[in-house]
Amino acid sequence: MNLIKKILTAQAAVLALVAVSAQAASNDDIAARIKPVGEVCIQGEECKGAAVAAVAASSGPRSGEDVVAKSCNGCHAAGVLGAPKVGDSADWKARADKAGGLDTLLQHAINGINAMPPKGTCGDCSDDELMAAIKHMSGL
Ligand code: HEC
Repeated sequence: MNLIKKILTAQAAVLALVAVSAQAASNDDIAARIKPVGEVCIQGEECKGAAVAAVAASSGPRSGEDVVAKSCNGCHAAGVLGAPKVGDSADWKARADKAGGLDTLLQHAINGINAMPPKGTCGDCSDDELMAAIKHMSGL
C-alpha cells in the first residue's frame, strides 16, 4: 500500500514537471508568435528601420525604366485618363513644345496636372528620377 502511494506521488511529480516544461516551451512559442511585426521609430533615436532605409537610399538613383515600371505604367502604358502613352513620342513632343520644354513637363510631373497625380505616385522619387522616367516614356 505504502509503495503504491510512493509510486503515485513520484508519478504526479514527474507529470507536474512535464506540464511545467511544456508550458514554458509554449510560452516561448507564444511570445515569438505575438512579437510585434514592426517598431516605431522616433526622430533622434537610433532605429534599425532607418539603417535599412539609408542603405536603400544609398543604392543610387533608379533608372527611368525602373521608375516607369513601378509608378508610371499604371496610367501611361495604356493611356489611362488621357495620359500620354509610353513610346508615343509625337504626343510627348507636342506636350513638351506646348509647355516650353521637358523642364516644364517635369514641373507638371512634380506638382501634378489635371488627372496626373503629384510625382506620378512615386512619392520618394527625386526630380532626376522623375526626369529619367519622362525621358524613358517620351523617348525625347
Ligand atoms: C494615376 C494615373 C497616372 C500615373 C500613375 C502617372 N501619370 Fe503622368 N499623367 C497622367 C495623366 C492623366 C496625364 C495627362 C494630364 C493632362 O494633360 O491632362 C499625365 C501626364 C503626364 C505628363 C505630361 C504633363 C504635361 O504637361 O503634359 C508627365 C511629364 C507625366 N505624366 C509624368 C509621369 C511620371 C514621371 C509618372 C510616374 C512617376 C506618372 N506620370 C504617373 C496620369 C498618370
